[in-house]
Amino acid sequence: MRIISGLLRRPTPLVGIDIGSSAVKAVELTAAGGRRIVATAGMRAVPAGSILKGEIVDRSAVAEAVRVLLGAADIRGRDVALSLPGGAVIAREITMPRMSRAELAGSIAWEAERHIPFELCDVNLDYQVVDRGGDAERRPPMVVLLVAAKKTTIAEYAAVVTEAGCVPAVVDVAAFALQNACALQEGFERGGVVALLNCGASTINVNIVEGGRSVFTREIAAGGNACTEALRRSGTLSFEEAERVKKGLSLRKAGREDAESVLREATEDLLLEVEKTFDFFAASRAPGRIDRILLSGGASQGAGFASAMAGRFDVPLERFDPFRRTHVVGEQIGWRDPADLAAAAGVAAGLALRRTGDR
Ligand SMILES: Nc1ncnc2c1ncn2[C@@H]1O[C@H](COP(=O)(O)OP(=O)(O)OP(=O)(O)O)[C@@H](O)[C@H]1O
Ligand SMILES: [Mg+2]
Repeated sequence: MRIISGLLRRPTPLVGIDIGSSAVKAVELTAAGGRRIVATAGMRAVPAGSILKGEIVDRSAVAEAVRVLLGAADIRGRDVALSLPGGAVIAREITMPRMSRAELAGSIAWEAERHIPFELCDVNLDYQVVDRGGDAERRPPMVVLLVAAKKTTIAEYAAVVTEAGCVPAVVDVAAFALQNACALQEGFERGGVVALLNCGASTINVNIVEGGRSVFTREIAAGGNACTEALRRSGTLSFEEAERVKKGLSLRKAGREDAESVLREATEDLLLEVEKTFDFFAASRAPGRIDRILLSGGASQGAGFASAMAGRFDVPLERFDPFRRTHVVGEQIGWRDPADLAAAAGVAAGLALRRTGDR
């Protein structure tokens, strides 16, 4: 889904940049002969507090993180695809009578007035026909995915990458970017219902995909930070010590068992939010079952996170690896485990599949 496009004439590959509240992730995909693809990828922490509730508070700090990351990971491209925080984007699937492209283009603003709870002058609108519908006699309706993104947020995120020396070419929605990455690496089985979860620091994106088509998206306003905060509140742990507990690394101090039980509880609280979202999906769309959970996002690497999730939901659960079919080169700066990059880079890998001017 293209929301803004640059002025480049030929479609060129883009660098996927996922600006998260705790870390920036970047992925560049290059063909390396035959069907082999090399991913140059990396991530870098952004200073705490520079992005709050999806709003860029300290643009220079975030731009610096992007600039340093691209240099250190040796990512050469400067035309980039970005994703926006969920609060700035509304995606709605709407049904309309079957019509021509021109008719659709003519009536989409009117439809948007009815379905999008933002002033139209404040958003960039985009749409994609998901299902053209049937012939005139049977008249099943046409299904159109309508996306509206706040102009001010697009401008904020575009300004970050511009300050980092890049050209913003495409803006996407994180949940859809992750879905594109999954489609490439895993494929979606016909009729299967897969819940894609991207568990970040302050948000969890849920995208439920049925036979390759997104049927439900939701952004939960909590993530790994909630565990860090619970650990800090419960005792005398510093931010760094709390992060170590989350990563399953031992603490030298006494109180480790207490910390682990606090972490377990905070993890269960997060999973309860996921469960409520699944319940909401089940109530809103028959038959509402989920066949598989694909887990990604940095927080999904947390100690006990995946096993707690497997325990709560009686559904097969796998970790999504955006690099399963690609050879990865590049740097993870300030992170210890390559699995952390694979977990965190799903959205950026999906963004890197975009081309200038595509939709
Ligand atoms: N190995 C690990 N174990 C536990 N937690 C981890 C691990 N690696 C990263 N995290 C946690 O994952 C979170 C960061 O993940 P991610 O990079 O996906 O978030 P983000 O995109 O910056 O956040 P958001 O999208 O919510 O703004 C942080 O809370 C971090 O503590
Ligand atoms: Mg994120």
